Parts: sequence; structure tokens; C-alpha cells
Amino acid sequence: MRMYDLILKKRNGEELTSEEINYFIENYTNSNIPDYQASALLMAIYFQKMNKRETADLTMAMAHSGDVLDLSAIDGIKVDKHSTGGVGDTTTLILGPMVAALGIPVAKMSGRGLGHTGGTIDKLEAFKGFSVEMSEEDFIENVNKIKLVVGGQTGNLAPADKKIYALRDVTATVDNISLIASSIMSKKIASGADCIVLDVKVGEGAFMKNKESAFELAEEMVAIGKSVGRNTVAVISDMDQPLGLAIGNALEVKEAIDTLKGEGPEDLYELCLTLGSHMVVLAGKAKDDKEARDMLIETVKSGRALEKLKEFVKAQGGDESSIDDTEKLSKAEFIIPVKADKDGFIRKIHAEKIGIIAAELGAGRATKEDIIDLSVGIVLAKKRGEQVNKGDVLAYVHANDKEKGEKVVGGILNNYEIASEFSNDIPLVYGIVR
Ligand code: URA
Ligand code: CA
Repeated sequence: MRMYDLILKKRNGEELTSEEINYFIENYTNSNIPDYQASALLMAIYFQKMNKRETADLTMAMAHSGDVLDLSAIDGIKVDKHSTGGVGDTTTLILGPMVAALGIPVAKMSGRGLGHTGGTIDKLEAFKGFSVEMSEEDFIENVNKIKLVVGGQTGNLAPADKKIYALRDVTATVDNISLIASSIMSKKIASGADCIVLDVKVGEGAFMKNKESAFELAEEMVAIGKSVGRNTVAVISDMDQPLGLAIGNALEVKEAIDTLKGEGPEDLYELCLTLGSHMVVLAGKAKDDKEARDMLIETVKSGRALEKLKEFVKAQGGDESSIDDTEKLSKAEFIIPVKADKDGFIRKIHAEKIGIIAAELGAGRATKEDIIDLSVGIVLAKKRGEQVNKGDVLAYVHANDKEKGEKVVGGILNNYEIASEFSNDIPLVYGIVR
């Protein structure tokens, strides 16, 4: 087989066989195929597209390009959740304990974040002493015992995707539905989940800027999951404004704790119930969404989910006393209010821009080497649809550098659109694809 022929075939709009796709992935992963030929093929795929069969083959070839985790030693059906990424998305920290409190195993391999705020591991480090370093045996034992564990991502999970994603990033071939769907699903499949719940975000702060492309991506990923025997459900949710109120690592941890205490922001709690109920149904613990939702609400009302969080944090070496006393979480020195400059109704909060400002404060990384300041970020006080008067606080900046904190106030204000009339026609959840 020659790479040249694969490029030519796809360039001319023909379908690649399974063998051809496997050949490409295997030989690109071990560097037998140069970047320029891989780039040419990706560009041909970008223009000519791939059909469902090709996309599923690409997914499986990438999933098997490195380690595939064997979670068979974990009792029960393993359900994983994945978000396509947004601003202030704290759902994992809330869903994990809620779902685990129902006896469903949640075994997560997580990473550190690049972008607006840290990844789940960064956030969890807001608990002093928390660690994801553990042997495979301890990982399995923890999840069998307490049903919730977060481990660090192994270096060799879907290495083909790692290489191809980096190449797509610099060759303008990221935004192709087949390539995105196979990239995400290959990692989920390699990390061993039996079932997958996807949170596909749509809006300014997301990868998919409109509803149509979000549904298309969701349908593609659900089809891939089905074709490889992993039951998959996708929830299409709003990312046109940040989710919840907090953006920033320790701030989001506090928000997650508040939510598990029943005192969190409504949109965040509601999305957790929606995503969580699909996880519970896929795990076979409830007959329908309604029953699952009631079970999840009960884990919060009874305090069982909060207890589960404590158990989990303690098992991984973290200081669980900061869950009862959130004052113990790391805190920024300065809290600076951002005030409305006119009366009206909030029409828009530009999510991506707000996320970038939080990252500039130190809550996120621009490069892998950057060090995150866990304590800084932004806490919104008002959200879309709310009425405000001039002088009302819209948000608070949490900063350790006073000057830096004061500098972003204007930027945040600029990203709040205040209109004279009420309008809020964007739903939290656009729909479900199963
Ligand atoms: N996230 C991924 O992991 N891959 C993509 O291609 C896009 C988003
Ligand atoms: Ca949030």
C-alpha cells in the first residue's frame, strides 16, 4: 500500500477501505508516514468528507493506536461523561459524586487543562494534598470500594489522535465533523468506558457555534458509539454564556460543593441532573430519565452525594475538611466588583471572552508549561435575562495582583450586553440525541 494512492483516492472523492485507514493510522503513529502526506490526506478528508463507516474505522484505528484500558476488574457498567468544552464547566465535580452515590462506578482518567481554566485534575488540587498518582491496583480498588476515582491520563492513550490533532491544529483541518467525532470518541473508547454520555456544547463559548453543527456532531458521535458497541447519548447544551457562576479553579470547586449542598446555581444543577439521569439510565439503574432524576435529587437532598465527595477526596489524599469549611480552599487576596453602567436586561454574556479574561488573570494556561493560580477567576453575579440597575454588581473579579484585577474590570463590562428590553430565547438544553 502507498500513502500516495490513499491521498489520491480521497482527493477524488472515493471511499477509503478499513485496511487503508488502518494503514494510515499505524504508519503515521510510528512515523513511517511524514507529516506532509498526513496533512494532504487530512485536507482531502476535510473537503471530501468521510462516511459513517470510514469515521467509525478511523475512530477504532486511533483508539487502538496505543494502550486500551481494561476496566473489566471494575464491578458494574462503567459510564463515562465527556464535555466538548466550555467556559466554567464544573459538571464533572458534581456528577461524579452524585452518580457514585447511587453505586454506579465512575472511573475517570483526566488531564490538566489548556485554555480558560484548568482541567479536572487542576481543580481537584484545590484540595490540599489531593493526588492522582496511584498504581493500577489502587485505582481499581478505589473505584470498587467507593465508586469514584480520578486518575492521571496515561501518556499512551490514543497516540495517533495526539499526533493528528496537533497536525490539524496547524493545517486548518480541525473543524471537520468526522475528524472531531473520531478524535473525541477514540479517546473515550481507549479509556475503557462501556457507555458514554456526551455534553455537546453550542454557542459562542464552544467549538460548535450553531445548533445545526452541534446536532450533526452529536449524531456522528452517537452513531460511532453504537457501531462499536458503546451505548452513547448526547445532550446538546448552551454555551452562549458561562455555565453556573464561577470561572476559575478553586472558585469552581466551591461552586461544585455548594451545588452538592443544594445551594448551587440553577442552570448548573439542572444540566447535572440532565446529564446524570442519562448516565444512570445507561448504567441500568433506572428505567427512565424521570426515575433517574429523582434518584439523583435524592443524593443531594440526603447529603449522600456530599459525603461521597468527602470520601473520594480523602481516599486520594486531599483535605476533605475544606468541604464543610470552604473558607479553607485557596482564596484570592482581592475581590473587585464589576458594576453595571446602565439600567436594563442582560441580553448576552460573551462566554469565550469572559473565559479568556479569567485565563489572563491566571486561572488558565496558554502553554503547557504555564502555572495556574488556583485561587483567581471571575464569579458572575448576574446572568442572561436578569434585570439590572446602573451600579448593580454584575460580577466579581478574584485576583492576587490588584492592578491586574482592576485592569480586567472594563473588559468584563464590555462583554455584558445590556438591552432595554427583556429577551432570553436560548434554552439550557437544546435536545438529546440517542
Ligand atoms: N476535542 C478533541 O479532543 N478533538 C477534536 O478534534 C476537537 C475537540
Ligand atoms: Ca461554573
